[in-house]
Amino acid sequence: METKRFHIDPEHMDIDKIREAAKIIREGGLVAFPTETVYGLGGDAKDPGAAKAIYAAKGRPSDNPLIVHICDYRQLEEIAVDLPKTAKKLADAFWPGPMTMIVKKNSKIPLETTGGLETVAVRFPSHPVAMALIRESGCMIAAPSANTSGRPSPTKADHVWGDLKGKIQGLIDGGEVEIGLESTIIDLTEEVPMILRPGYINQEMLEEVIGEVRVDPAVLGTENVHVKPKAPGMRYKHYAPKGNLKIVTGDEEKVIAAIEKMAGEDEASDRKVGIIATKETKERYTKGVVLCIGDRSNEDEIAHNLFAVLREMDDMGMETIYSEDFSTPRIGQAIMNRLLKAAAHQVIEA
Ligand code: TXA
Ligand code: MG
Repeated sequence: METKRFHIDPEHMDIDKIREAAKIIREGGLVAFPTETVYGLGGDAKDPGAAKAIYAAKGRPSDNPLIVHICDYRQLEEIAVDLPKTAKKLADAFWPGPMTMIVKKNSKIPLETTGGLETVAVRFPSHPVAMALIRESGCMIAAPSANTSGRPSPTKADHVWGDLKGKIQGLIDGGEVEIGLESTIIDLTEEVPMILRPGYINQEMLEEVIGEVRVDPAVLGTENVHVKPKAPGMRYKHYAPKGNLKIVTGDEEKVIAAIEKMAGEDEASDRKVGIIATKETKERYTKGVVLCIGDRSNEDEIAHNLFAVLREMDDMGMETIYSEDFSTPRIGQAIMNRLLKAAAHQVIEA
């Protein structure tokens, strides 16, 4: 299949191109598009055939539910049952934006879209291209991240092109995304709302709006590897680069020394080794290929670059990768959640 690539400048949107892409979705086809978090792979959320095509294009297990993207709060009311009061409060505070709510669904959304679950994940994205595409299609758009299953989520159109070209009808290239980590998922079907996937909107921000919020213990960190996460997608090996990634934690000086030593040993055994460092530390390494993820004091920059850096390591054929730890104050939990998964929880204390 030929994949049509549309170039759309989010600041001066060409509405005719949006309409052409929207028509593909309305007719049952798939179009990848930018959101403020990562690129999504969209299809009509009410069409079981589109859901099946999404799973096939990504190579994703069909029991892993998709997120339904809307462009009006009333669409949530249209597909939900027993909507709790917290839904409206959260929507008022964070929509449009990088937050996904899980609620009980009615029969308008087929089980194919929700991976067989009676609940549905719903998000109202803030990216102008995403909003225009949903509006012009007249559909709600089911969209997982637009990567091949198991690879890091795409933050640029070229990432999507590399993974899905020839497997989908369209790709809207709207430039780089802003946030770079997938949305925060909050499950409102629990007695106490629970974060199933940490993201840019953190626990504290949610609690300010609706009171107590828990975090699924399975997404918290290294010690919980054996607890099964509630979001099916969080159970699979995910975000993984092809190289063997290890995270090195501890005092900065010790981390640098430990990475230097291990990278030296890898090079001595002829392994290609990559190092994920920060602006503050990148000059300190003499071994391996060093990629800078950003300024340690700018956690938005680290989040924005994480998946692209992991993909770059793949493109360079790195066999072993060492990363510094990025437990930053506000979105460090989200960053480390993705990094730990990418590293299959291999952490070295320096
Ligand atoms: O930022 C995002 O959320 C991006 C953009 C494209 O909007 N989308 C995204 O979708 O990350 P995806 O499919 O890659 O991740 C959706 C996650 C999966 O872990 C899935 O298991 C979980 O949401 N999920 C979806 N519906 C669910 C449900 N009803 N119950 C529990 N988990 C659910
Ligand atoms: Mg994904």
